[in-house]
Amino acid sequence: MNTPSNPNLEGWSASYQPLLGEILPTFLPAQRWFAGKGAPIEKVEFEQYVSWPEHSEWLLARIGVWFTGRSEAQHYALPLALAWPEDGEEKWRSLRRSALTKVQIQARTGWLYDAFAEERFCQLLVKLMAQNAQIPLGAGWLRFSATPAFAGCPSAISEALPVKQLAADSSNTSIAIGDRLLMKAYRRLQSGMSPELEMGRFLTEAGFRNIAPLAGALEYEDGNGERTALVLLHGFVANQGDAWRYTQDYLKRFLDNCLQQPEMVRKADEIHGLYRIFATTLGRRTGELHRTLAQISGDPAFNPEPITAADLTRWLNRIRDEAIATFERLAQQRESLPESAWPRVDRLLAARGALLASLKQTATLNPGTVKIRYHGDYHLGQVLVAKEDVIIIDLEGEPSRTLEERRDKQSPLRDVVGMVRSFNYAAHAALRPFTADRQALAPRLDDWERQTRAAFLNGYAEATRDNVGLGIDLAQANPLLQAFTLEKVCYELRYELDNRPDWVEIPLSGLCELLPLLDQPFPRINLLSSPSMESAMSILFEPVQFGELRLQNRVVLAPLTRCRADYQRVPNALMAAYYAQRAWMGLLITEATSVEPMGVGYPRTPGIWSEAQVAGWRKITDAVHERGGIIVLQLWHVGRLSDPLYLNGATPVGPSAIAPHELSIALLRPKKTYGVPHALTVPEIAQVVAAFRQGAQNAKRAGFDGVEIHGGNGYLLDQFLQSNANLRTDAYGGSPDNRARFPLEVVDAVVEVWGAGRVGYHLAPRCDFLGMGDANPLETFSYLVSALSQRHLAFIVARERAAPDSISPKLRPLFTGGFIANEGYTQQTAEQAIASGLADAVAFGMLSIPNPDLVEKFKTGITPNAPQPETFYNKHPYLFDLAEPMPAEGFYESDREGYLSFGPLKVSA
Ligand SMILES: Cc1cc2nc3c(=O)[nH]c(=O)nc-3n(C[C@H](O)[C@H](O)[C@H](O)COP(=O)(O)O)c2cc1C
Repeated sequence: MNTPSNPNLEGWSASYQPLLGEILPTFLPAQRWFAGKGAPIEKVEFEQYVSWPEHSEWLLARIGVWFTGRSEAQHYALPLALAWPEDGEEKWRSLRRSALTKVQIQARTGWLYDAFAEERFCQLLVKLMAQNAQIPLGAGWLRFSATPAFAGCPSAISEALPVKQLAADSSNTSIAIGDRLLMKAYRRLQSGMSPELEMGRFLTEAGFRNIAPLAGALEYEDGNGERTALVLLHGFVANQGDAWRYTQDYLKRFLDNCLQQPEMVRKADEIHGLYRIFATTLGRRTGELHRTLAQISGDPAFNPEPITAADLTRWLNRIRDEAIATFERLAQQRESLPESAWPRVDRLLAARGALLASLKQTATLNPGTVKIRYHGDYHLGQVLVAKEDVIIIDLEGEPSRTLEERRDKQSPLRDVVGMVRSFNYAAHAALRPFTADRQALAPRLDDWERQTRAAFLNGYAEATRDNVGLGIDLAQANPLLQAFTLEKVCYELRYELDNRPDWVEIPLSGLCELLPLLDQPFPRINLLSSPSMESAMSILFEPVQFGELRLQNRVVLAPLTRCRADYQRVPNALMAAYYAQRAWMGLLITEATSVEPMGVGYPRTPGIWSEAQVAGWRKITDAVHERGGIIVLQLWHVGRLSDPLYLNGATPVGPSAIAPHELSIALLRPKKTYGVPHALTVPEIAQVVAAFRQGAQNAKRAGFDGVEIHGGNGYLLDQFLQSNANLRTDAYGGSPDNRARFPLEVVDAVVEVWGAGRVGYHLAPRCDFLGMGDANPLETFSYLVSALSQRHLAFIVARERAAPDSISPKLRPLFTGGFIANEGYTQQTAEQAIASGLADAVAFGMLSIPNPDLVEKFKTGITPNAPQPETFYNKHPYLFDLAEPMPAEGFYESDREGYLSFGPLKVSA
């Protein structure tokens, strides 16, 4: 132990024993920064103390505090200063709050007080930082440093800036130095690199503008070179207070208004406009913070790294352990909680096994994002509102974790979860004073929370969208988000059990909200919208049964040709990744897939006639099933919409020898019009039917959940059905029932293979595709739809944009199975169509291309990305425009563009 070596302090050791024995054990628990509250103090010791070289009245002390029954001590920095009567009454009065005790030194009586209350002490620290000073102290050094941001505060070293300790409401001491700088003095000491110092330095140097820039630091380096941060200095940013307070004020005004002027607040959408702007900005800045932290800087402490399976296991183990410990605590403390909480507690304790089991399943996921340094203790209280913007503060991580844990790279989604939980806390906290009107006001707050969360996520997604490692694919990330939420809510619960038992309802209800999600097959977990929000939101997310197919929601992937298979028309891993990304939609209908080589009309569209194709599709169905999705194969024959170039020189086939007007052949260059097809003979028709049957059998072997027969868009079945392409005079032409004969023969053959409950039919009643037309569409399509209904098909997809002349509303009552509407639908019009009974589900085509997470976007209110038609087909769309041979994997790297480039998800391909 060091002893003071200056005359002013000599003799003070008479006060030393009472200080340790009585004064500090009383003084410490009264300090907000003291982390050992509630634990009985066994003893306090000076571990180190030394007087300041040029200021004999200042003493730097490090104290150790031991607690009864605990082996670990806590260590604190306690710089002390002495004030003498001659310093004046005023000074004595101003220091009283920080005074520890009176001391008697060499016949003089003085006051010993916390040196951070001493203006000159704080000013000197700033000055020494500016000088990058190094001062020997005991066996080590005090190391002062300044960052380039210090240069922005030249007046800070003039010593004249007034010093003011700010209200003590944190685990550190904060001191304003003029209106230029903010000094943060750490009290509890932890040796090792301070995450806040490191993060502050990194972000300041990276030019991230939404933090208070780090201007300087004081660290102690011991004899072994181990550093301990003592003081940080930040640039002061003018602000209107923290976002927690701002939000509470906002919500109080809102709830008062709800009671006083209910008619004014009926339109909550308009009411929360300004707050939504704030939440969007907060989301954007959070995303930008993560982007900055995800930059490859060359500093290994910050470089982003992929999340590995081992990371996932480690995180999930920790979450599981903490959840187990929390549930144990809950069980032990049940009786001491308010009785009103018991039903929830019991429900949770009964469901704990299921909650923990859901974590196991999460371990199989590939989250697709990188791990980076992150905020770590992110909530509304860690954000300052500054004019129209926000300032993110307190980058020290979660104080209850070790420094090493806090410096660990993690999924930045943890911060996202932190803030989302904080909105939930804010809503509950705002409601607490309104005890009498709780019931009436709670839905208002639910609505506010939903809008706020959506706006925040929208902003976050916008800011991270084009960042490969960060952009969140909500659907894919949801199980991980759920795991992080479980972790966070367990932490909250432990905190409330320890500190504020009457707040325990908030985390309890947070945990209960996770429970209904367990009933759904993994991983259809919707973390980011609470059940109450979902039910308020949309009929689109209600499950529905089509024949034997159970759809978890009514958002269907419309079939979309993307031309990414290989030249043998074999599906590849790239396609598996693409469909897996969309597994969260209620039903996936694959791109059109030819049942035989004569049924193709485009480059690189897949087939289902060869064994290689069956094996390729199997990988896709497996990938979708792994994620709990269901997928049907669209069985296809293009008929006359082809060219000998695709058919080994053969002439395309059709019902009659009529060319589809003067149409150019799609995706073929140089341009060429479609030729006159060969009219199929009756035996040839039977062969095509057999090809469909075989295709259906192959689809079964490939693991599909069913098939959809492509009877629309001007392809072979449509050519037979509609009068302008079918001039036959045999049993396959003429009346609607004759024209429908071939399509229905195909249906019967396929139903024989699958059973009607797993077969769907695709039709295009508007008749304006690729040269189609019918003399009486209503009659023709009514006949067909009735015949399909008689056969009890699982569903039909009617592609017809809604317009006054649509015939779909007339077809809908003719069909008893699932009616899926398609073309031009938005979330809103889809909800209307389902709510009004015009459809049971809606298929989304172009919108599904740039939005693999369309369901989550709909749920959370995030604006979907706009389609980019130039990337719909591959970069080599023209069959004879091949610049390079295809790699062995069966796709070009350039195929990813516009295909897998939306969101971060990287299912390995
Ligand atoms: C790039 C692209 C490829 C398509 N491929 C198919 C297909 O293979 N099978 C099919 O039945 N419809 C196909 N369609 C039509 C869509 O399924 C859907 O009917 C159409 O895009 C209208 O719906 P939307 O307005 O939601 O995009 C395709 C559409 C696009 C834009």
